Amino acid sequence: MQILLMGPPGAGKGTQAEFLVETYAIPHISTGDMFRKAQADGTELGLEAKRYMEAGDLVPDEVTIGIVRERLAEDDCKKGFLLDGFPRTVGQAEALKDILNDLDMQLDAALNIEVAEEELIKRLTGRRICKTCGATYHTVFNPPQTADVCDKDGGPLYQRKDDNEETAKNRLSVYAGQTQPLIDYYEKEGVLVRINGQQDVGQVTEDIKQALEARQ
Ligand code: AP5
Ligand code: ZN
Repeated sequence: MQILLMGPPGAGKGTQAEFLVETYAIPHISTGDMFRKAQADGTELGLEAKRYMEAGDLVPDEVTIGIVRERLAEDDCKKGFLLDGFPRTVGQAEALKDILNDLDMQLDAALNIEVAEEELIKRLTGRRICKTCGATYHTVFNPPQTADVCDKDGGPLYQRKDDNEETAKNRLSVYAGQTQPLIDYYEKEGVLVRINGQQDVGQVTEDIKQALEARQ
């Protein structure tokens, strides 16, 4: 399966990715996670990405396209992939088309998880992440059993730097300006699947499962 996971910041892409990569045994390629790892490792890429991410702006296309091109050429992507948070601009979508052509691959589906803006702000500002295993929680919608402690491994939970209200609002306006046009783009390509993301996590998963089964 070659799948794109799209949707605004906070729509639940990372949450749903967990089920998708397990079910289809495909690698999870999240450009946001790649940039955060580069920052934690203190690489040049991380340093470059940091200033854009902390402001809630997009990392420039030439940087982002390069890392995705390299990643998709790796052997484990031959069995398929889940691209999460890429593409985010028409330029990235055009580049992805060329990359997949070169690799003789095609997209099976572009899943667009739809959630209203008000709800997105609540989801982003309440999100907490485990420092040890990366599991995602929410202070209200999915709280851990003990406040600020991961249920799985007891790791401490932290808040992403770009999840404050001001930066979250900018991320949503960047999304509306630069990423939303991709919905039309993939509709024209015939691979767009709209998913109602404003339901409980299990129901969203169920809808995704059914939509993918219908396309197989
Ligand atoms: P990235 O890491 O990709 O972040 P994002 O797209 O803003 O998405 P999020 O991770 O914030 O949200 P999500 O949809 O995964 O939601 P989640 O499942 O966690 O990008 C970060 C930055 O990196 C960008 O701003 C940019 O600077 C840079 N970047 C990345 N890719 C780039 C690219 N291609 N080009 C240029 N720059 C790029 O859920 C959110 C919360 O809601 C959680 O607390 C969760 O528990 C809760 N939740 C999830 N589902 C539900 C539900 N159904 N009901 C209730 N609560 C729910
Ligand atoms: Zn954990």
